[in-house]
Amino acid sequence: METDTILVIGSSGQIGTELVAELRTRYGRDRVIASDIKPATPEQLSEGPYEVIDALNRDQIFEVVKKYGVNQVYLLAALLSATAEKNPMFAWKLNMESLFHILEMAREGHIRKIYWPSSIAVFGLTTPRDNTPQFTVIEPGTVYGISKQAGERWCEWYHNKYGVDVRSIRYPGLIGWKSAPGGGTTDYAVHIYHEALANNSYNCFLAENTTLPMMYMPDAIRATIEIMTAPAEQIRYRGGYNIAGMSFSPKEIAMAIKKHQPDFTITYQPDFRQAIADSWPRSIDDAVAREHWGWKPQFDLDRMTEEMLVNLKKVNNLV
Ligand code: SER
Repeated sequence: METDTILVIGSSGQIGTELVAELRTRYGRDRVIASDIKPATPEQLSEGPYEVIDALNRDQIFEVVKKYGVNQVYLLAALLSATAEKNPMFAWKLNMESLFHILEMAREGHIRKIYWPSSIAVFGLTTPRDNTPQFTVIEPGTVYGISKQAGERWCEWYHNKYGVDVRSIRYPGLIGWKSAPGGGTTDYAVHIYHEALANNSYNCFLAENTTLPMMYMPDAIRATIEIMTAPAEQIRYRGGYNIAGMSFSPKEIAMAIKKHQPDFTITYQPDFRQAIADSWPRSIDDAVAREHWGWKPQFDLDRMTEEMLVNLKKVNNLV
């Protein structure tokens, strides 16, 4: 396993930035190929191999797979929920065609393992919203959710039909200080920390009691690597696994920040993302992931808040 060569597509995004760093500490710098549609920054180039890849360009992906002898692919390139609503046709194309490129490469025997992220966005208005089970009604109301639901079905189909070793997690909203989120409905939970430090106030695009499932990035990265390194027989479901970290509303995250900055204020100005959030679960039941491959979260809201504020202060030279 440790001698595999890994390609991360979409490595400059919110998850990719942190995942590449962690994979490199485990597999070695040169065994993890970062790739994104944008050219590398000088910093990225100094950190290890980097290739420009458009996830829609099958030939470009294949060239990199051959060049480095890649046998595992983490496909992270996608349009997220808010951006996808504004550009539905392109979102569908990008989110689906990129997945087919990788699933087909695995079917043809060029790569042996795939990671593909799913999302709580697969759930919709008809899904039970509290402690949403692994197996339940799945009728997503967003383009992003529809693409994730379809992707899950295709992953399972390729596994059942061709034995493709593809693994997937339904991420909740992800919060970290090392990278910026892009185009999601849960992004507010990252922005709020930046604004708390810069202005001691935040104008939130979701209403105060909008509770959503969330997770601190170190938990999400660990979950990703754990599911990918678990013995294949433990991964008995090839669609996306529910995983839970914590659940909170804008009002509750503001209260957690107030413990460190008593004068912090929050205002609410819900926009189109409110309807997306209102169609998603409030909390997630992750019993199946716990049972199959031993998933267990480590961070709650208070611990995450402390770490977010301390680290953002450091990187922004505020201490
Ligand atoms: N964080 C994502 C979004 O808001 C959910 O998968 O789109």
